[in-house]
Amino acid sequence: MPPPVSQSATARAAEVIARCQALARYSEDAGSLRRTFLSPPMRDCHQAIAGWLKPLGVVPTIDAAGNLRAVHPAATANAPALLLGSHLDTVPDAGAYDGMLGVVLAIALLEQLEGQRLPFAIEIIGFSEEEGVRFGIPFIGSRALVGRLDEELLGKRDPKGVSLREAIQNFGLDPSQLPAARLQYEKVLGYLEFHIEQGPVLETLGLPLAAVDAIVGQTRLAITFTGQANHAGTTPMNARRDALAGAAQWMVAVESEARRASGLVATVGSIRAYPGASNVIPGEVRLTLDVRHSSDEVRTEWVRRLTASALEVAARRGLGLDTATLLEQSAVVMDAVLTSEILSAVRASASTAHQMPSGAGHDAMILAERVPAAMIFLRSPGGTSHHPAESVLAEDVACAIESGLCLLRRLAASPRFLERTTRNRA
Ligand code: GLV
Ligand code: MN
Ligand code: MN
Repeated sequence: MPPPVSQSATARAAEVIARCQALARYSEDAGSLRRTFLSPPMRDCHQAIAGWLKPLGVVPTIDAAGNLRAVHPAATANAPALLLGSHLDTVPDAGAYDGMLGVVLAIALLEQLEGQRLPFAIEIIGFSEEEGVRFGIPFIGSRALVGRLDEELLGKRDPKGVSLREAIQNFGLDPSQLPAARLQYEKVLGYLEFHIEQGPVLETLGLPLAAVDAIVGQTRLAITFTGQANHAGTTPMNARRDALAGAAQWMVAVESEARRASGLVATVGSIRAYPGASNVIPGEVRLTLDVRHSSDEVRTEWVRRLTASALEVAARRGLGLDTATLLEQSAVVMDAVLTSEILSAVRASASTAHQMPSGAGHDAMILAERVPAAMIFLRSPGGTSHHPAESVLAEDVACAIESGLCLLRRLAASPRFLERTTRNRA
């Protein structure tokens, strides 16, 4: 039996939840949460976090990609760092925990250390962008850390025509400083991310926590059907090239075809019809397609099939079709050493240790390209996420704090963890 959760972890958990809810008030939309890449409420979010870090003597900086970075020093100078973080941006009509929980939990762990310094520094990172809402391309914050925020990406424009470069400048940051945001790999021991599971597995198993063993790959496409806009009252039904009717037919085909492949998920999550009036036949429709599977081969094959099915629908209806790839992200395996330490820490301090894959994408999959990366999931009540009803149980947060503290102490005493920065890929 694991020991009962301490009073201090229980009190800290209540504070973590209150802080996530406080951050959820910083939104672009009245009455619901939407905080996209470097939107004005992100500044409020940074200020609130700086206020929580102040009593710890930690002063955060904002790097040129808009990531909040805060370093708690090690016991000795020049020691390498363990990175602890998650993202601060959200989807539209979001819940309060996807991303923010990982940042706020990291701060709680520093607080639980009560000034104790470890053989490694702890760098807390609040990533500026993970969801891909503003520019259609996710992981902007973590890409900057591994040197993948390149000129092409900086030139991408949001729906209002603002480029990523301009968004950075408008926030008062300097894109020429992006190289300084990159990690110095030889000084990084690893990256650890706490995150809600966003699915039903842990709730079904009756468990608070799990170690993530792998993150599935994902492809995101922008698809445009082009027809002919015309008068809705005067154009006979047999003389139309209705882009929206074609898109609708294809969307239903995506759903039924994707159901035939075990483990595949395919989603059309965004659709815009132009010109967008009730008395005009839609001449153009822009959609997104998101396809995920644990096998990169299976995912790639299904992207091909679903794209071919869009071409067929377009050809049958005399429509044009254009596809552009927004994201092609391979599946990623989490670091074995960190994951086995997580499992031991969870076993010692919380409960049965469970391992599971993540169907959601995370900054950990980008950092894993360069440094050992691992994740801890917290049970998601109702399996609900990307929705305002997203929640987390206070007792699970307390378990995560106890396990996290236990993990930090295990890592601090683990030669196989401490001695391997040289193995990180340059
Ligand atoms: C991030 O939430 C994702 O889309 O997986
Ligand atoms: Mn999300
Ligand atoms: Mn997330």
